[in-house]
Amino acid sequence: MGAGDIFSHQLIAAAGSARRQAYAPYSNYHVGAAVLTMDGDIIVGCNVENASYGGTICAERVALTAAVAQGKRSLKAIAVVTVDGASPCGLCRQVMFELGPQMDVYIADGDDNVRTTTVQALLPDAFDGP
Ligand code: THU
Repeated sequence: MGAGDIFSHQLIAAAGSARRQAYAPYSNYHVGAAVLTMDGDIIVGCNVENASYGGTICAERVALTAAVAQGKRSLKAIAVVTVDGASPCGLCRQVMFELGPQMDVYIADGDDNVRTTTVQALLPDAFDGP
């Protein structure tokens, strides 16, 4: 699946909308994410910060854990939107590997520039359990 197809376009748009829900009063860095399931469903997330900073959860993990909570464990792709097209953090990469190791990853900025990669490329030689 490439960045030009209809699913990735919709997925990135959904992540961009979710970004507007970000709760980020401490960093003011708003992140949106959207997961595409094998069934074609889209499940979104945004970052949710906390005054106790370690309580913050990234947009990607909000979307991924929501997918699990909705019984969706077959995941095809994830899109992440930030103002500057930043890469997902290491913790989110590990969670992507756990829940969707075959996923495509679309990383977009506020101007709709998209970089397409994969979980495997973002987290080579991943830890896969003891
Ligand atoms: N953040 C994400 O939501 N996803 C990432 O992959 C990187 C960082 C959030 C966490 C925090 O609310 C803000 O961005 C600044 O680090």
